[in-house]
Amino acid sequence: MGLRAASSKAPHPGPPATGPPSPAAGPMPYDRAMKARRLLLCLLCAVLGCHPAALQRALRAPNPPAAVSLPECEWCGAAEAPKKLHWRTRVAPEAEPGEPLVISGTVYRSDGETPAPDVILYLYQTNDAGFYPKRGDETGNGRRHGYLRSWLESDRNGRYEFATIKPGPYPGGSEPAHIHATVTEPGQPEAEIDSFVFEGDPFLTPGHLAMYRGRGGSGIVRLALDGEGVWRGTRDVVLEP
Ligand SMILES: [Fe+2]
Repeated sequence: MGLRAASSKAPHPGPPATGPPSPAAGPMPYDRAMKARRLLLCLLCAVLGCHPAALQRALRAPNPPAAVSLPECEWCGAAEAPKKLHWRTRVAPEAEPGEPLVISGTVYRSDGETPAPDVILYLYQTNDAGFYPKRGDETGNGRRHGYLRSWLESDRNGRYEFATIKPGPYPGGSEPAHIHATVTEPGQPEAEIDSFVFEGDPFLTPGHLAMYRGRGGSGIVRLALDGEGVWRGTRDVVLEP
């Protein structure tokens, strides 16, 4: 299409979109336009105290890219999920330093008994040192949450499982170590649930416990080491009515 347009004998519709705008009274001859431009640059540089060539280069420089805004919702992530999801996922890559951890459970409807299939769980967490690490190529809320994040979708029996590392508490803070989570039921908006926290965490004080509202069922997980040195725990997620 492009080649055919370039060789067309049809009259040119006007100046190319990237060219200089034409004055309303008609095009100025090229040499006159250049002289006028040079004169304008010299005048500007006389005022600003710069070299005309430098100003010309600055004027030709492309505009800096517009700042990319972050998603309005700070904790959301379901909209960024890959198209194909499985009921099991890995949050931290296998090479990520830290103690290996596997959490599993069942997603139930609000009656706490009926398994809920096809529910998207979005998870993100700190690394072993308590930071949300970033590689610099994150998109969407990955720019907030870092690369230790993933998605899964409960299977037809409501089952889910994710492998990761034990998150570290925020450095110098008093927050219990935690894994953030949201749930998205088919046709429903994404909802934040209580973070996964771990029984025995010294920062899990009565004050903190009072802050947890049981959204998605209790997020307090008891961990046990298996024979292969992997921490394992279970949490059943109960959806809101
Ligand atoms: Fe956090």
